[in-house]
Amino acid sequence: MTAKPFLMNQWYVAARKSEVSRSPLGRTICGVPMVFYRRGDGSPAALDDRCPHRKYPLSKGRLIGDDIECAYHGLRFGGGGACTLIPAQTDIPRGFGTRAFPAAEKSALVYVWPGDPALADAALIPDFPENDSAEWKPMSDYLHIEANWQLIVDNLLDLTHLTFVHKTSLASPGIQENPLTVTVDGDIVRAKREMRGVPAAPIFRLLRDFDGNTDRSQNITFTMPNHIHIRSEAAAAGVEGDPDRVRLAILNHLTPETERTTHYFWSIAHRAGAGGPGISERVHSMNKMAFDEDVGILREQQKMLDTDSTPMVNLAADKALNEARRIIRRKFAEEAAAG
Ligand code: FES
Ligand SMILES: [Fe+2]
Repeated sequence: MTAKPFLMNQWYVAARKSEVSRSPLGRTICGVPMVFYRRGDGSPAALDDRCPHRKYPLSKGRLIGDDIECAYHGLRFGGGGACTLIPAQTDIPRGFGTRAFPAAEKSALVYVWPGDPALADAALIPDFPENDSAEWKPMSDYLHIEANWQLIVDNLLDLTHLTFVHKTSLASPGIQENPLTVTVDGDIVRAKREMRGVPAAPIFRLLRDFDGNTDRSQNITFTMPNHIHIRSEAAAAGVEGDPDRVRLAILNHLTPETERTTHYFWSIAHRAGAGGPGISERVHSMNKMAFDEDVGILREQQKMLDTDSTPMVNLAADKALNEARRIIRRKFAEEAAAG
């Protein structure tokens, strides 16, 4: 593991849109305790959760207009971090306040920039249209993972584990036999696997009653710092342009909490109109069952890594994750060089 555990000059998913409200939300991002809330105009605010007075968590306080009031001695801070009230004295020292972080909302997600605010450009936030488009039906969830965030990037960029970890949900024959085609475009890694004439994986059978084999594909896209977008599709075998092709999008956002724990925000979306009543819940439930299986794998892997400093071994199926790790290493080096 690299000496410095976090890239700070990045936009990280901090919460689902629905989690940030007029009740303060405390959440640690990249080792920094933060408090999130919504101002009166709806915009998200992110502050250091440690009250600068005696370090009580601001997230245990309450909102007064656009300010947050500390529940210990009643100091108030605006969404930009400036102290607006000290109840036990009349004057506020010049420049006194707490740290504020740039925050923004996109694709039903709230993002925070834990690094240098001068570098925070909201145009850099990626778009995940399946999260809030009328053409898709997304279901969202959250997992707290007891492992470093890069192990989850590895997990999602090498789907050969489906055969062994997710036998009853996501696996189908053909995953091991067909290699990943990996391409790198700047800071984006794309990996693609095509599987012809394979039985439908259980999750596809929820959406369509396939009466024969399927042609299946996995298209995986890694974008900095920690987004893995997976498009997984199945069509009737041999039917080019199958109009009833099943299409799933799995969106994964892996935000470091600490060096060894990660906030895992995920969604699974199917095409609007596909399947019958309750289908979204059944697709979500099967995917959740699979991702719950990863929780244990990642926890046990992290425990072993904590006892062993020898390097992991890279095999053919690790090509995509190695490209992602190479980009991440370069970003760490760039941040270190910039001081
Ligand atoms: S610790 Fe917050 S007001 Fe004293
Ligand atoms: Fe998995």
